[in-house]
Amino acid sequence: MITVNNLSELRSVIAAARQAGKRIGFVPTMGNLHNGHMRLVDTARQHCDFVVASIFVNPMQFNDPKDLERYPRTLEADQALLSAHQCDVLFYPQVEEMYPLGMALQSKVSVPDVSEGLCGGARPGHFDGVATVVTKLFNMVQPDQAFFGEKDYQQLAVIRKMVSDLCMNITITGVPTCREESGLAMSSRNGYLSPAEKQQAAFIYQMLCALAQQLQKGARNFPELCQQACDALAAQGFRPDYVEIRNAANLKPASVHDTELVILTAAFLGNARLIDNLVVALNS
Ligand code: PAF
Repeated sequence: MITVNNLSELRSVIAAARQAGKRIGFVPTMGNLHNGHMRLVDTARQHCDFVVASIFVNPMQFNDPKDLERYPRTLEADQALLSAHQCDVLFYPQVEEMYPLGMALQSKVSVPDVSEGLCGGARPGHFDGVATVVTKLFNMVQPDQAFFGEKDYQQLAVIRKMVSDLCMNITITGVPTCREESGLAMSSRNGYLSPAEKQQAAFIYQMLCALAQQLQKGARNFPELCQQACDALAAQGFRPDYVEIRNAANLKPASVHDTELVILTAAFLGNARLIDNLVVALNS
């Protein structure tokens, strides 16, 4: 695997791969890689002949400067993992390469509707930052296919809409969430948890599964179910941000006529803001 830091080198490596007739797969990340990311790389490997990953801790998508500052940066370990998973190129740009005029003068991409509410409500501007950087990365790498984790369910919906609305010729593939044995969704932010909190954090998935069961059994009072789930999280020591039940396809508030729902949640535990979700197919 080679690591490239600048756009001109990236473009020449990609041009050579394209000339050799290779299908290019792309896995954008912010680094501090874990098995969840490796599942993205492995899936890219299955679909494509040439795999590019990027590591860029994108300041535009952080609304809290302290959160940006403490975000874990583990380049050497990340390179070792990527290379063990047959990644061909790591693109590792600096902020100046991505935002040469600074962020204030950067043209931005904004994806209405799906960006609003949920994490978009709690983190204003977050999805504009994600959509902008992913657009730039797509234009830099020009992949045939790009891979995103389903753990970031709303982010995946934002990217899908952006690609469709802006006629980007890229296939977007969602990859199922990787979980610890306890059920806890793998995330770079789990590193902020103490061992005891990590045990405790497994409750989020238990709560999602319990709520999914209630939906399967016919419960349809969505606001009440979400309130009960928030109360259960609070009783277990979390500071719940939201628990919401939405239509899995368009993220609109769930209706009693929907046949596929998604339960989405975000909750603070200690120093970490954790998110997770579960899709529930209802037997109609
Ligand atoms: O999911 C992430 O790691 C980031 O939001 C992404 C897609 C790499 C954009 O910075």
